[in-house]
Amino acid sequence: MTDTSTPPVLRHEQPEAGLHLLVLDRPKALNALDSRLLAELDAAVRAVAADPLARALLITGEGTRAFAAGADIAQMEGFSPAEARAFAARAGATLLAIESLPVPAIALVNGYALGGGCELALACDWIVAADNAVFGQPEVSLGIPPGFGGTQRLPRRIAPGKALELLLTGRQVRADEAVAIGLANEQVPAGQLREHGLALARTIASRGPIAVRLAKEAWRRGQSLDLAQACAVEADLFALAFATEDRREGMRAFLEKRAPAFGGR
Ligand code: COA
Repeated sequence: MTDTSTPPVLRHEQPEAGLHLLVLDRPKALNALDSRLLAELDAAVRAVAADPLARALLITGEGTRAFAAGADIAQMEGFSPAEARAFAARAGATLLAIESLPVPAIALVNGYALGGGCELALACDWIVAADNAVFGQPEVSLGIPPGFGGTQRLPRRIAPGKALELLLTGRQVRADEAVAIGLANEQVPAGQLREHGLALARTIASRGPIAVRLAKEAWRRGQSLDLAQACAVEADLFALAFATEDRREGMRAFLEKRAPAFGGR
């Protein structure tokens, strides 16, 4: 159960209609992911999933030093194997919930994204790196392998051989290398990270909301299918869009040479 006697360690803001911003808020511990922060993250992600007006989710870390410097080592130090397994399973469910959100999730990585922090970023659909971002899976230096999906999501995001190199050496990469290997989509000045993320989310929010959800669903469901099956899923979702008012509005607006006014219906 979440402790309500002390201030929350996650801020859930809605800076604009439809845009959700989650801020990991344990800056003194470099936003390390302990059970409490993970529980608050889980509740917030499920609230976003249940919001029919949600358009996009942004996740970032409080302060200038870290997105999240990993799972909380001080807490993990006392874990039995059963506790470690339960901790990883709970975090894994939350990260899966982020990945399965019907709307895009974007990680805004300010500073360290190590271990569980890197795995949290990898659960997002894409990653924007501040120029002070540092990514890595340093768990092998602690005598453990990654436990929040890093061994699975990293090789699905970047070249598998490069992923294995990072997983087995624990080597950390800075923002420019993260972009070069396809881990981060782009690099922006640290001071502009939040505003850049909001601008991206605004762009997404300006598109047909059902179309955005369908495109993400097609992309996601297709990942585990062969090409023919994946394209069949896409065709079904494409057809579904033709039942919406949004597609009539979008096409009419184009033909009438005006901006569309999507209602999300
Ligand atoms: N879990 C718990 N606490 C953490 C943490 C983590 N993953 N990462 C950082 N912290 C805490 C430190 O213990 C320190 O707390 P203190 O001020 O009470 O001593 C505080 O955050 C600041 O970290 P510090 O190590 O002093 O900062 P630094 O600038 O010297 O180094 C890092 C920054 C990120 C390189 C270093 O903190 C680090 O290596 N962290 C662990 C990364 C890791 O292995 N993550 C994977 C975990 S599975």
